[in-house]
Amino acid sequence: MAAMQDALLDWAATAHRDLPWRRTRDPWAVVVSELMLHQTQVARVVPRYELFLRRFPTPAACAAAPVGEVVREWTGLGYNRRAVNLHRAATAVVERHGGRLPADLGGLLELPGIGPYTARAVMAFAHEADVGVLDTNAARVVARTIGRRLAGREAQRRADSLVPAGQGWSWNQAVLDLGAGVCTKRAPRCYRCPVSRWCAWRAAGRPEPDPAVGSAGTTGAQPIFAGSDREGRGRLVRALCQGPVPVGAVGAACGWPDDEDRAARVVGALVAEGLATLDAGVVRLP
Ligand code: ADE
Repeated sequence: MAAMQDALLDWAATAHRDLPWRRTRDPWAVVVSELMLHQTQVARVVPRYELFLRRFPTPAACAAAPVGEVVREWTGLGYNRRAVNLHRAATAVVERHGGRLPADLGGLLELPGIGPYTARAVMAFAHEADVGVLDTNAARVVARTIGRRLAGREAQRRADSLVPAGQGWSWNQAVLDLGAGVCTKRAPRCYRCPVSRWCAWRAAGRPEPDPAVGSAGTTGAQPIFAGSDREGRGRLVRALCQGPVPVGAVGAACGWPDDEDRAARVVGALVAEGLATLDAGVVRLP
């Protein structure tokens, strides 16, 4: 295994991307970047990450703002619920931990809005701990390397056991880069892969089904966005960032002027998730 680990680390030392969150070990900056990166592409995250941290440089700054302000800083990244989660996490950090993120996996996992992926990312990327960070790209790499579909616990266990001692930071960034640029979901570029020699799926001739499909931590196809509830939701949240929207204007704001029921459903979901309030017939950011 050491030869494989060295090969990937050597490759990453020359191929790795210079990304702003790779120049910090600040746990808050890591939480912000990883929550953004969880469902949004790197190129879209870079500018928003820097603006966000300028506006909310600490958990205390974030917790002190109304949730609506955090949602406003999040627009354009999509999946706005993550902004509410981040605000919840920041509030808990201030209330329970004096404004400093816990530096252990258990403490991080107890925070609202922080899941296993983000907690492990903080351990690896802020504290340089030897844990495996399993996002959808890394999960694909692990499943293919092992050569079969992995169930939840095993995928994490395998990811953890691949980390070379003392190299948690570099290793995980390398795996993420490999998954994003080489071991891609469709048409993986095995001819450019520094660890193809050790890949069980490749050795077997890349048989179908691809072990990454349905393996723990990987995501399936993204649902179609155009015409979806999510598209209308995004439009409404953007409108709310400009100001309150009367209930009668919600359908138009969503882009569905003739479908009041659908618009009402979206408002109900936004209110339930803490992304909006509905009071006296007016919808607002909280
Ligand atoms: N995707 C998730 N985390 C990432 C990171 N730290 N760098 C690049 N892409 C990522």
